[in-house]
Amino acid sequence: EAGSLWGGRFAGGPAPELAALSKSTHFDWQLAEYDLAGSRAHARALAAAGYLSPDELTAMIDALDRLEQAVVDGRFRPEESDEDVHSALERGLIDLAGGELGGKLRAGRSRNDQIATLVRLLLRDHAAILSHQLVGLIDAIVAQAEANLEAIMPGRTHLQHAQPVLLAHHLLAHCWPLVRDLERFDDWGRRVNASPYGSGALAGNTLGLDAGLVASELGFARVVENSIDGTASRDLVAEFAYVAAQIGIDLSRFAEEIILWNTKEFDFVTLDDSYSTGSSIMPQKKNPDIAELARGKAGRLIGNLSGLLATLKGLPLAYNRDLQEDKEPVFDSIRTLEVLLPAFTGMVATLRFNTERMAQLAPQGFSLATDVAEWLVKQHVPFRDAHEITGSLVRFAEQNGLELEELSDSQLAEVSALLTPEVRSVLTIRGSVESRSGIGGTAPVRVAEQLIELTKRVATV
Ligand code: ARG
Repeated sequence: EAGSLWGGRFAGGPAPELAALSKSTHFDWQLAEYDLAGSRAHARALAAAGYLSPDELTAMIDALDRLEQAVVDGRFRPEESDEDVHSALERGLIDLAGGELGGKLRAGRSRNDQIATLVRLLLRDHAAILSHQLVGLIDAIVAQAEANLEAIMPGRTHLQHAQPVLLAHHLLAHCWPLVRDLERFDDWGRRVNASPYGSGALAGNTLGLDAGLVASELGFARVVENSIDGTASRDLVAEFAYVAAQIGIDLSRFAEEIILWNTKEFDFVTLDDSYSTGSSIMPQKKNPDIAELARGKAGRLIGNLSGLLATLKGLPLAYNRDLQEDKEPVFDSIRTLEVLLPAFTGMVATLRFNTERMAQLAPQGFSLATDVAEWLVKQHVPFRDAHEITGSLVRFAEQNGLELEELSDSQLAEVSALLTPEVRSVLTIRGSVESRSGIGGTAPVRVAEQLIELTKRVATV
């Protein structure tokens, strides 16, 4: 019956309204296997400290193993009367091991140090899954860059034509934030590598249990330095939710471009049929739903993070029940990304780029004007004057309905005597791109280096 964890102090069980509010098994049941792993480690610590005989330890581990089997194959499930994963599993253990032995396991631990530990374990596993999925997406973007190494597109600022860039350079600009997300998980992994087990309710335990033993059995490098912090902090959960939200934002920005590129007006990409959707009424439609869902899910991921931060902001030390609210948002972020990332990766891997169209548009909108100005600087014209001259050139071309490369020698000279026919050397998109050869620039030699560097960075995480 509900309340069995603390029956002695209470005249009766909890009101049904309280039980309904308090209940968390519908979301914390996914921690069951971590809970059982913690229980096995805790049983060994109890035995090492003399609270379980060798025979009792064997029987306890055996019961926990059998309980785990029952959990895995679905024979053991939480009941209506179970408040949370911990109480459900204690009920299961007592069923299998009997009240006397089963009742010994709870010594020296609290649900507060348990839950703090289990959440870390779960997040760690999902950080590994998400990192793997991120690498898959990065690989897909890199493969597209490598398959389109020669392609030149209009680079934009303010969504206006700015300067031509290599498509590969642009695609890799979407990769680097994802590489940093990967590094964020890696860095977070160092902080999360401490076990709160043994912190008890808040102040530590009196039983002389070896928390280091529990930590190493659960795969943690160390034990938390402070039992209050160990049970009451959730900054590491929030940090995970931040990385998840940032991934969502990074995907969303790429998604927005794919949506634009996929319009008739841009016509830069074709989506594969298997990664696009149709309309129930308009037979001609082929919609970029994956990209739109990515953009939409980013809002949800940000919401999960902000909700969690708001939950944490006013909490006094140590454990407060508010902390139970950490799980649903971060679990939702995990589920959201684990479904989104493979779909997004498939969409990117199967994108076809209309490189002819991109190259055709790349010089338009006077996107080579900066090249003209910089060519003048190389002729030792002060940049201020070069800018002025090139501005007049653009105005002249615009008035005459011509692009810069379409102007005749005499028209160039009409604008400025400094604009000799040699300026034509920079009036091609290839020449423009090749000349941007500083570190991190769009010149093909630099982009080739960038690809190598990126691969190296991903391999070191
Ligand atoms: N279900 C709680 C949580 O998710 C853990 C149990 C601690 N409960 C308590 N009343 N001290 O945080």
